[in-house]
Amino acid sequence: MDLIQSPWFSYKKDHLYCGEVPIRDIIKSTGTPVYIYNKQFFQNSFNEFKEAFKGLDNSIFFSVKSNFNISVIKTFLDLGCGADVNSQGEMYRALQAGAKPDKLILSGVGKTKDEIKLGLEHDILLFKAESEEEILLINEIAGTMNKIARVGIRVNPNVDAKTHPYISTGLMENKFGLNTDEAVEIFNMGGKLKNIEFTAIDMHIGSQIISIDPFSEAIDRLSEVYFRLKGNGINLKHFDIGGGIGVPYKGEKIFSLKEFASALIPKLKKLDCKILFEPGRFLTANGGVLVSQVLFTKMNYDKNFVITDAAMNDLLRPSIYNAYHHIQPVDLYSGRDDIYADIVGPVCESGDFFAKDRVISKMNREEYLAVLSCGSYGMVMSSNYNGRRRPPEVLVDYNNFNIIRSRETYEHLIWDEKSNN
Ligand code: LLP
Repeated sequence: MDLIQSPWFSYKKDHLYCGEVPIRDIIKSTGTPVYIYNKQFFQNSFNEFKEAFKGLDNSIFFSVKSNFNISVIKTFLDLGCGADVNSQGEMYRALQAGAKPDKLILSGVGKTKDEIKLGLEHDILLFKAESEEEILLINEIAGTMNKIARVGIRVNPNVDAKTHPYISTGLMENKFGLNTDEAVEIFNMGGKLKNIEFTAIDMHIGSQIISIDPFSEAIDRLSEVYFRLKGNGINLKHFDIGGGIGVPYKGEKIFSLKEFASALIPKLKKLDCKILFEPGRFLTANGGVLVSQVLFTKMNYDKNFVITDAAMNDLLRPSIYNAYHHIQPVDLYSGRDDIYADIVGPVCESGDFFAKDRVISKMNREEYLAVLSCGSYGMVMSSNYNGRRRPPEVLVDYNNFNIIRSRETYEHLIWDEKSNN
């Protein structure tokens, strides 16, 4: 089988390490399943992003939905990054991690009154609005609070991001944003909305996008809107291009950030405003693994199954997007044959799998497996399905590790339930 290694996760003497910490040391203290992140990966990818766009007036906002652990958010804040949040819960997490409101963006196609109020109370940098009704509501609430809300309009450019349909967000059939004409109409109405200042135009066309073209095309469409507005005397401060940069899951080659920057910078420099980025996956995906223990192996008819103690409730991506995550043993043994196997969890659904017909070295009970590229959209999408406790999270910092979230207890699972009424 193929083994994927990186400076952040690599084998030393046939044992997998995260940075300088052997995985065995971590699981001795946490058990399995467990999410393990490498802090240096997070720092490195943020610095790579910053470096690639250093010639451009820009700010980076970590998309908290990709990994909302407050230690992870803080890692990015400490580097000068802002935070893009999609709900009150994510805003709460970002504030707990120490985010400054002037570095907070509130996104989301369906914001509640409470979310809008909270954003106004904190005087956040930007509300990204996605409908006329939402804009009217923000104006009304800001009025009652005697505040001016800084608002951007998310434009749906009708560009195909060529990614999984569930994470493609910039096509006219998607629920996101407003079409260009309607957006212009609402921007033009700005003078009548006394408690709103329109400061930004925004897009986010999808996630795990593996070619630069859709970004280029969407930026062209939004630039047209930007210049139409400028012609009407509306000078926006911010042009937000969202997130969406694809990352390798199989060790494959995807455009580099340098290529991305050199394709886009000339277009973005024509705009007379600051560029905002909201990367999530690029900053976190390949900085995390999910480690699980093999409970049993079996052959059913002619199919091999490896049954692990992690399940779809811990990592949902394979079940709902058929997403590929590379899986490899934590310990390597010479002379082991490779087999084809389905790697599955204990949840009672056939959709509970991490891989199907995957080539993997033959595994025995009680050995450990690492599911790679789990730093994004892993823990944040976990659930308690089948009464399972969500796993702990560990952050490795060179040769130290910290448990940044403990495994849930059974008491957590029922804390607010009553056994009678
Ligand atoms: N900004 C906005 C407004 C977004 O909706 C998203 C992601 C991002 C930024 C960050 O996108 P990224 O750089 O991570 O691609 N659960 C799915 C991904 C959903 C992405 C949702 N929006 C998955 O596991 O693939």
